Amino acid sequence: MQIVSTIEELSQTDAQGAGGGEVLVPTMGAMHPGHADLIRLARERAGASGKVVVSIFVNPSQFNESTDFEHYPRDLDADCDFCQRLGVDIVFAPPPDVVYPPDEEVPVGELPAVATEPGLEDAYRPGHFAGVCRVVRRLFLLIKPEAAVFGEKDWQQLRVVGAMTDAEGLGVEIVPCPTAREPDGLAMSSRNRLLNTEARAAAAAIPQALEAANACPTAVAAQVAMLGVLARAGIEAEYAAIRDAETLDEVQPDAPCRALIAARVGGVRLIDNGPWAAALLAGD
Ligand code: PAJ
Repeated sequence: MQIVSTIEELSQTDAQGAGGGEVLVPTMGAMHPGHADLIRLARERAGASGKVVVSIFVNPSQFNESTDFEHYPRDLDADCDFCQRLGVDIVFAPPPDVVYPPDEEVPVGELPAVATEPGLEDAYRPGHFAGVCRVVRRLFLLIKPEAAVFGEKDWQQLRVVGAMTDAEGLGVEIVPCPTAREPDGLAMSSRNRLLNTEARAAAAAIPQALEAANACPTAVAAQVAMLGVLARAGIEAEYAAIRDAETLDEVQPDAPCRALIAARVGGVRLIDNGPWAAALLAGD
């Protein structure tokens, strides 16, 4: 496995889109089993001859709170060992001035509607998706992968990156990876390690709320059910919503839907989502 940190080093690897079928897994490090699932999927997608490239970069432009950025867990050595064990070919771990050269404007491009209109992450984390689009676009242009793997755990991010890639014709296939969960259902996240014992126990109510939503016949009932499950665990949600799975607008008849939750638990912001099928069943 090669570990590189500059564009020059990167250009000397095989990760330069010369038809070699590179598959990129963009991360901010602090690897957990959810990241391992992404890497395994990338390995499968790349096949025997393609290369798997993992980028590790804690992207300052997507954090809206500087303390969140400062406290974000970082352990490059452990992350590289993790990647090595999973058969990654190249780790690209650049310092900030390689991604954002002081003398070069790194454009965001036009943000797709799903990044600005749903009133979900876009409303609670202003500027977040501009930062995500900026860094993902930059990584795509530097690495020129054939495909890139993103987790369903960050559902709105997955839709935003897909919409941006289509709108700009970046020519990268976006491959979704299902959410990896703890035994009690909590979605794995680098932030889970910041939860104290009490908050960790309460956080299991989030996947329970998503499950409760699926027992409800309408989107309104599902929203009430989610808020109820969360409140009983002492959790106040930022949002608990049922939306069109693709656009994240209000639900459309006969289109796939998604249940999405964001909440602060013991001071740690957690997000999760799952398919919501009840509307389709109710429409039958
Ligand atoms: P990060 O939070 O490190 O996540 C990297 C990738 O892992 C994302 O695609 C995310 O959706 C996925 N992921 C996280 N937890 C997961 C889980 N439990 N199951 C499956 N996939 C999971 O998301 C980012 O970094 C950044 O915004 C990034 C895209 C790298 C841009 O900076």
